[in-house]
Amino acid sequence: MRILVFGVTGFIGGKVVELLKERGEEVFGVARSQKLDVPVKTFVANVLDKVSVEKAINECKPEAILFAVGERYPKGRVGEDYLALMQSSRVEGTRNVLECIKEMPSKPLFVCLSGALVYKREQVYKGEISLPLNTEKDPIDDSTWFGQTVLKWEAVVTEYGNKFDIDYTIARMGSVYGWGGIWKELFFERIAKRKRVFVPGNARFTTSLIHIEDAASALVHFLTNPSTGEVYNVVDDEPVVFKKFIEHACELFGAPKPLYIPLLVLKPFLGAGYKLVAPAFSISQAVSNEKLKKLGFELKYPSYKEGLKQIFEKVS
Ligand SMILES: NC(=O)c1ccc[n+]([C@@H]2O[C@H](COP(=O)([O-])OP(=O)(O)OC[C@H]3O[C@@H](n4cnc5c(N)ncnc54)[C@H](OP(=O)(O)O)[C@@H]3O)[C@@H](O)[C@H]2O)c1
Repeated sequence: MRILVFGVTGFIGGKVVELLKERGEEVFGVARSQKLDVPVKTFVANVLDKVSVEKAINECKPEAILFAVGERYPKGRVGEDYLALMQSSRVEGTRNVLECIKEMPSKPLFVCLSGALVYKREQVYKGEISLPLNTEKDPIDDSTWFGQTVLKWEAVVTEYGNKFDIDYTIARMGSVYGWGGIWKELFFERIAKRKRVFVPGNARFTTSLIHIEDAASALVHFLTNPSTGEVYNVVDDEPVVFKKFIEHACELFGAPKPLYIPLLVLKPFLGAGYKLVAPAFSISQAVSNEKLKKLGFELKYPSYKEGLKQIFEKVS
C-alpha cells in the first residue's frame, strides 16, 4: 500500500514510518525541509501552504495519508501568536490536506491524530485512582486551549469526511511516551543520566498514557484498514497518577526524586503557554480503550510499568 506520512520527522510520524517499512508497505514522507536522516523518500511541503501540500499529494498519489503534524511547544515563554500558530498548523493544516484529497478521483484513506486528554470533567481530581473512564462519546472540554483546538481540528475532519465521502479515522492519543519526543527532552534524558528532573505542578493528577510502539501500531492498523468515520481513544489499560509514573522512572534509573514546581510559580515564565501547560499538568484524565480493544488490537505495553521497563532496557 502507498502511504504518505505528514510529520515524518516527528516522534509519532517517525515511529509509524519505521513500522510501516517493517511490514513492507510503500512509505513516503512529508517534511518542511529535505532531511537526510529520514529513511523514506520525502516530499517538501508546509501544511500551511496549500500549494506545496497539493504538489506533494499529487506527486505521491497515496492510498492512505497520516496527518501527524503539529507545531511543537517550544521551551520557555510563548505569546498568543505562537499558540495561534500551534493551533493553525493542526486545524488549517488538516483542512489544506483534506482540500487536496477531496479533488482526487480515488480518495486516500485519511488518519488524523488528535488528543484524548481533553474530556470534560466534573471537577479537577487530585490523585484519585479509580476515576470513571471517558469514552469517545463523552463531551470535550471547551474551556481549555487544547480542548478548543481538538474540537476545531476534529470538526474539520468530520466536515470533509462526510461532505466529500472521504474514509477517515480520528486517533485520540493519550500522552505518548518513549525514548523520543518531548518526553525524552524534558524527562527521560536527564533521568537516564541520574539527574534530577523538574515537574510543573504537584503531579497529583491522573493521566492516560500510551507507549510510542503501541501508539504507532494502532496508527498502522488504522492506515491499513478501511474505516467509516470512527473516533478511537488510543491509551493503555492503566491510567496513573503522574507522580507515581515519574517517580517509578526515577527509581528504575536510580535518579533522584523530581522537584515539583508549583504552577503559579511557573506562570510568569510561561506567558500564554500557561494556558496549555497548566491544564496538561493538573486536570485528571482517565480514558477508556475499550473501543480500540474491540478491533482485536493488543497492547505490547498495557501499563506504564512495562513501558518504562522497555525504555530502561533500551537505554541501559
Ligand atoms: N506526543 C503526544 O503525546 C501527542 C498526544 C496527542 C496528540 N498528539 C498530536 O500528534 C501530532 C504529532 O505529535 P508528535 O509528538 O509526533 O510531535 P512532534 O514530534 O513535535 O512532530 C511534529 C511534526 O509536525 C511537523 N510540522 C510541524 N509544523 C508543520 C508544518 N507547518 N508543515 C509541515 N510539517 C509540520 C514537524 O516537522 P519539523 O521537523 O519540520 O518541525 C514534525 O515532523 C501533534 O499534532 C500532536 O499534538 C501528540
